[in-house]
Amino acid sequence: MKPHSVAVLMLVFSACRLDAAPTEPSAPSSAPSSAPSSAPSSAPTKPSAPSSAIDALATLDSRQPVPLQPMMAWHQKRNMMEHLVAIQLITARLAEEDWEGVEQAASLIASSPTMQMQCEHMGAGAAGFTELALEFHARADQIGPAAAARDTQAVLRATAHTLSACTRCHETYRQEVVDAETWQAQTGASHSPMGGDEHPGTPD
Ligand code: HEC
Repeated sequence: MKPHSVAVLMLVFSACRLDAAPTEPSAPSSAPSSAPSSAPSSAPTKPSAPSSAIDALATLDSRQPVPLQPMMAWHQKRNMMEHLVAIQLITARLAEEDWEGVEQAASLIASSPTMQMQCEHMGAGAAGFTELALEFHARADQIGPAAAARDTQAVLRATAHTLSACTRCHETYRQEVVDAETWQAQTGASHSPMGGDEHPGTPD
């Protein structure tokens, strides 16, 4: 336990809160031009931070934890990166009035039976998470028809409506990586089928 590292963390935290963008290196300076599936593909297999550091973070982050096994957590992060790519593509194609392109991009975050299963699985240990996730996809479902109608404002409205579901979930929940036993105890589920690459929506 190093008390000064907690102090540093808190300083960094305050800096993020107070100074926002200028000193913060977190804003991406350039958008990735390729899909995140080409990004680092190795799962985080080794424990990366001592538990005291993780505890310090948990103290700062009061959002509701979503218990996830490591592979599920990584899967969720990949889904998230893809969600952001979908929004990137929607806005880029809208700017070109490429209506089919907007529809295609919107389909990456639209509702589907697979999405529904994944959301139920991810939210198994966190009350309200699955509902919010399904609400997010339902909102995204409105983007495609707006593009089909070639209605720029309707596309923007539906996209903003969708984004507010993203931000609401981010305000409410955080990942909590747990082992299989803990996850099963917390969810009552008996196994984790989320290890594969079966998720849809990798844009190209
Ligand atoms: C139902 C909940 C929910 C919705 C809806 C949601 N997210 Fe997330 N998102 C999360 C959680 C939980 C995390 C993990 C936060 C953490 O690290 O603890 C996350 C993390 C992320 C990350 C960081 C990924 C990383 O590499 O660490 C990005 C980017 C992201 N979300 C984008 C989006 C975008 C864009 C949307 C909407 C188009 C969206 N999310 C909708 C729950 C959600």
